[in-house]
Amino acid sequence: MDAARAYTNIALIKYWGKRDEQLILPMNSSLSLTLDTFYTETGVEPLKALHEDEVVMDGVLLSGASAEKVRHFMHLIREKSGSRLFARIVTRNHVPVAAGFASSASGFAALAAAAARVYGLDCSPAALSRLARRGSGSASRSIYGGFVKWLKGTDDASSYALPVDPARWPIRVLSVVVNGKAKRLSSRAGMKRTVETSPFYPAWVRQSEKDLAGIEPAIRAHDFESLGKIAEANALRMHAAMLAADPPFTYWEEGTLTVMRRAAYLRSQGVPCYFTIDAGPNVKLFCLQPHVNRIREDLSRFFPSEALIVTRPGPGVAYLDHPVQ
Ligand code: DP6
Repeated sequence: MDAARAYTNIALIKYWGKRDEQLILPMNSSLSLTLDTFYTETGVEPLKALHEDEVVMDGVLLSGASAEKVRHFMHLIREKSGSRLFARIVTRNHVPVAAGFASSASGFAALAAAAARVYGLDCSPAALSRLARRGSGSASRSIYGGFVKWLKGTDDASSYALPVDPARWPIRVLSVVVNGKAKRLSSRAGMKRTVETSPFYPAWVRQSEKDLAGIEPAIRAHDFESLGKIAEANALRMHAAMLAADPPFTYWEEGTLTVMRRAAYLRSQGVPCYFTIDAGPNVKLFCLQPHVNRIREDLSRFFPSEALIVTRPGPGVAYLDHPVQ
């Protein structure tokens, strides 16, 4: 068995929409920060005795759509490696209970790394990033630690992520769990509907490229306020495109708005903090280490302490010298 660990990431410039659904090529380039704390460990063991891939997640044998997504990915691994062996895949998500975090980014990054090694494929970071992308787009970025850019590219070979800054500055992400339950509309389905029906979608794509061009110098200069302003605006633009879809939809809940308002209030009090929101109701607040306690204190008036989780920049994918159970 080969096993790997990968951490989740949070996008500051979002990936929202595919140009090619088969290859998972995005409409726009995106940029994220890999986080510590939340990670997935996955082991892959090809076995002659198996007649299909067996997926055990957090001790439970997977079936249905989630198992199919993994099998589809393993089919690609067999196609690339020329092997006909099915595998036993054991995966553990290390995410705080009911934290409501998507595990597809860390999950497919860890699976890509473990499977590539055990099936004898190219394990260079760029190759792993391309491969992880085929499982879930955002997984292409979890191959690296710190700030990571996913180049949209024009084909399979040119669409991969690369590190842009190791984030060795005291940036923190406070995750606010508004609702830990599974989301109703998957990001895959939500982004497809937005691409196909939202009249705002072309503007979203154009503006994201501008946002990306603006945020990169801010990251290089460790200019926290510019970074935060651009990330917050980019997230709102993505959510605006969803509101304009047909039928319209939103992932926001009451608690989502509460956190957004608190961020604006904290800023008015001289505390720099900016939010971002993915395809769910939970909110991530970016801040600098000296302000974490003040922000947490403010939010603890609205949310229980277990719903407030502070994370730091995290590392890239790594191989494990122990099996996953
Ligand atoms: C809102 O990577 O989960 O988190 O490629 O269909 O598996 P698929 O989608 P996924 O989408 C992530 C969407 C997002 C923004 C982001 O992470 O960039």
